[in-house]
Amino acid sequence: MVFATPVVIGNWKMNGLRADGEARVRQLLDLRRAQPGAGTLGICPPATLLSPIAAILGDGDILLGGQDCSSEAKGARTGDISAPMLQDAGCRLVIVGHSERRLGHGESDGQVRAKAVAAAAAGLVAILCIGETEDQWAAGRTLEVLDRQLEGSLPERATAESLILAYEPVWAIGTGRTPSAEEIARTHNHLRARLEQLIRGGEGLRILYGGSVKAANAGEILAIDHVDGALVGGASLDAAAFWAIYRAGQAA
Ligand code: PGA
Repeated sequence: MVFATPVVIGNWKMNGLRADGEARVRQLLDLRRAQPGAGTLGICPPATLLSPIAAILGDGDILLGGQDCSSEAKGARTGDISAPMLQDAGCRLVIVGHSERRLGHGESDGQVRAKAVAAAAAGLVAILCIGETEDQWAAGRTLEVLDRQLEGSLPERATAESLILAYEPVWAIGTGRTPSAEEIARTHNHLRARLEQLIRGGEGLRILYGGSVKAANAGEILAIDHVDGALVGGASLDAAAFWAIYRAGQAA
């Protein structure tokens, strides 16, 4: 399936215990029932909440995702979670290459690519994150850095059905700062063209923007050409705010 736009995915990161996580999902389901709307909605809670949340979501159309996966299907990898395990827990998505993994855990482009390949092999859609640091941005190196990350971490066989790309400037994550609309437009245009060169059918691949997306700026960001949706961190921890972002994308 190629994802209906806007594609709005919440990344809860390491936040949520069972009571508040379940309550947030129930609230989201209520909002969705009241105002269905088009597009694709997904949430990536911590691994400990995947099974209980999968039970609440059932066969509905809110997609469940993991925040990372191993490049291996099983084995002696203490603390890691494999793509088949996520699939087994009810996931249809998995984030790979988030900057908090690349920078905080030293993941290379090659490792991120191997994770995206493992995700596809397990039938999951990988949400592949790329993004420049503040220094790289300030030095005008954004597109060069993104090209390198894309070439190093995009699986050759990626398709619009198996992979979603997320552009997340590292300096915009959790900071309340975002690039200007013109910068986002230029970057997404560039990524669209690169995807068309790198993979067959690349023109259909969804490209999300992530980094300090909130209800207040979502309308403007989601209306930018080639911004097919958003990867939302902090604001996804509030069901009403997350829903408002999704609704802003309906109007865009
Ligand atoms: P943020 O995080 O929305 O809190 O900036 C985005 C992300 O890390 O995916």
